[in-house]
Amino acid sequence: MRKMSIAFLALVVLVCSSPTMPIAAQSDAMPKDGELAFPSEYKSFPVFLSGVQKPDAVRDLYVNPIGAKNQPGQAFANGSILVMAIYNAKKNAEGVFEKGADGNLVKDDLAKIFVMQKGAGWGKGAPENLKNGDWIYSAFKANGERLNVDYTTCRGCHLPLGASKDFVHRYDEYFEKRMQGAH
Ligand code: HEC
Repeated sequence: MRKMSIAFLALVVLVCSSPTMPIAAQSDAMPKDGELAFPSEYKSFPVFLSGVQKPDAVRDLYVNPIGAKNQPGQAFANGSILVMAIYNAKKNAEGVFEKGADGNLVKDDLAKIFVMQKGAGWGKGAPENLKNGDWIYSAFKANGERLNVDYTTCRGCHLPLGASKDFVHRYDEYFEKRMQGAH
């Protein structure tokens, strides 16, 4: 018994001090597309843009406090999270989209939540020709469950923004509004 526990201890020491451990732990911590944690507290994040109008939807965008420190012309720092909450636009009884007093579509139920988050080296495993820096993408249902989507579509549509906008569609608009003190 005593012999066994010493052997066990020796094994633990060996495994924990093995030089491969930190590498293994690190790669486990690097999520791929579809593997980001759901940022359940996103509504408390600083606003990135709100009420973005689409033909059949209204979108509210958020950025976590790390991302909100970003300055114009810079890439977002590792640890940044961008969240896009996509709401269906409200229809009246006749199936026609309603408009608010401001002429804008009105939010109905939350349809889905799109997230992009970056970390050091996270982009390495992304498909060739679809490398958007170190951003990783995930899509969720309103309740936080994962959506099964083809993540090459996210990459393909964000890629043309290029590194100068850090692959973020509303990059310029965000800083313009922020400088105007809109949020
Ligand atoms: C057909 C193009 C297209 C595809 C595909 C696409 N996006 Fe976007 N995405 C946009 C546009 C355009 C915006 C800016 C907001 C808007 O106009 O709706 C945006 C904005 C975002 C934002 C807010 C930051 C920003 O870039 O302004 C996040 C987060 C995001 N998308 C995540 C995703 C995820 C996750 C996927 C895949 C599940 C995805 N997107 C697929 C076009 C696309």
